[in-house]
Amino acid sequence: MRIVLGVGGGIAAYKAASLLRLFTESGHDVTVIPTDAATRFVGTATWEALSGHPVSNSVWDDVDKVNHVRLGHEADLIVVAPATADVLARAAAGLANDLLTGTLLMAHGPVVMAPAMHTEMWQHAATRANVETLRSRGVTVIEPASGRLTGSDSGPGRLPEPADIFAAAIAATGAAGSGALAGKRVTITAGGTREALDPVRFLGNRSSGKQGMALAEAALAQGAHVTMVLAHAEVAPPSGCDVVRVESALELRDAVLGLLPTTDVLVMAAAVADFRPAEVMATKIKKTDDGADPVITLVRNPDVLREAVIARSSLAEPLVIAGFAAETGDAAADPITHARAKLARKGCDFLVLNVVGSGLVFGQDANEVTILDADGTESGPVRGSKRTVADAVIDHAARLLVR
Ligand code: CTP
Repeated sequence: MRIVLGVGGGIAAYKAASLLRLFTESGHDVTVIPTDAATRFVGTATWEALSGHPVSNSVWDDVDKVNHVRLGHEADLIVVAPATADVLARAAAGLANDLLTGTLLMAHGPVVMAPAMHTEMWQHAATRANVETLRSRGVTVIEPASGRLTGSDSGPGRLPEPADIFAAAIAATGAAGSGALAGKRVTITAGGTREALDPVRFLGNRSSGKQGMALAEAALAQGAHVTMVLAHAEVAPPSGCDVVRVESALELRDAVLGLLPTTDVLVMAAAVADFRPAEVMATKIKKTDDGADPVITLVRNPDVLREAVIARSSLAEPLVIAGFAAETGDAAADPITHARAKLARKGCDFLVLNVVGSGLVFGQDANEVTILDADGTESGPVRGSKRTVADAVIDHAARLLVR
């Protein structure tokens, strides 16, 4: 899609850089139009570097190209974030006193505005009336988030999270109903399970859940109905998906198996504990007076991926199942050989292989994976952000689903 990203002159302008990345990383071509005031917060060089296009905020640059007419006509979507009280007022009044407002008057596609301002400004009768006018003309004005504002004050007026603006923008274009996974149900497990030892302790792992969240965003962008089976994670799931919270591997297994009959694609991105304490103590484990070391016996957890593959044989509808594997390679074999053996053991359709050096994957924002198919083919390596990897995984699953 061709997207125009208008940036108003508010402190939240810096967050528009993350929004821009979400658009470009999902393959959209974005032209940024900051207002004059916005360039006081974030300079044009930043927008040019991140978008890969020249940036101007004046109708007097490149006059021969009549930029406001061209950009407004060509854009499949115009998003304004942050939409300040001033930008909302100028757009509502139909002013065309800079490149952004001129472009808005030429808009052919949907327009989405994400307001950000102090609570009093947002609640002022003038702003309320402007928002109402814009909405009555078909503009999507997202509700601002509530929380800490620029100073010590807090209340409604915060710019919504970039992922939420992204989801609202994609929904406004109708792409949510028209992607490769439109009408399909995708279940994604994410985060790390926690296996209780006693009421206060557990055995956990370092999974951040970021890859799972990126997979959910990618599936949402393809129009899927997404359910996350979410174990412990450092980041919040994207808005727009259903979330089933789980703690342990056993809970995760029950949630996944329960969802299978209504799932078209299952992606097992969760770090599921292979072992759990044989016994969960009802009361806190205490140090003993004799100084004896406690002994904890572990038992094997079910392999949820394997169980899903087995359960699939009794389902009426086709189901694509993907697993993740982090491998290091050792004296016996390289990571690909280990992963191929794992793929055969698990019996899923494809395995997303992370080749791990120390500390390379857990909690990191960037990633590199190879996709191994059960039929022996290999795709990748796919390098980039977790979102880039997620898009590749979701595209792959969507292709297998229609085969
Ligand atoms: N997985 C699972 N249930 C488990 C453990 C893992 O469903 N009890 C899933 C993970 O979500 C992932 C895949 O299996 O998609 C591979 O996880 P990994 O831990 O690499 O597999 P293991 O079978 O535990 O292999 P290893 O012996 O290398 O630990």
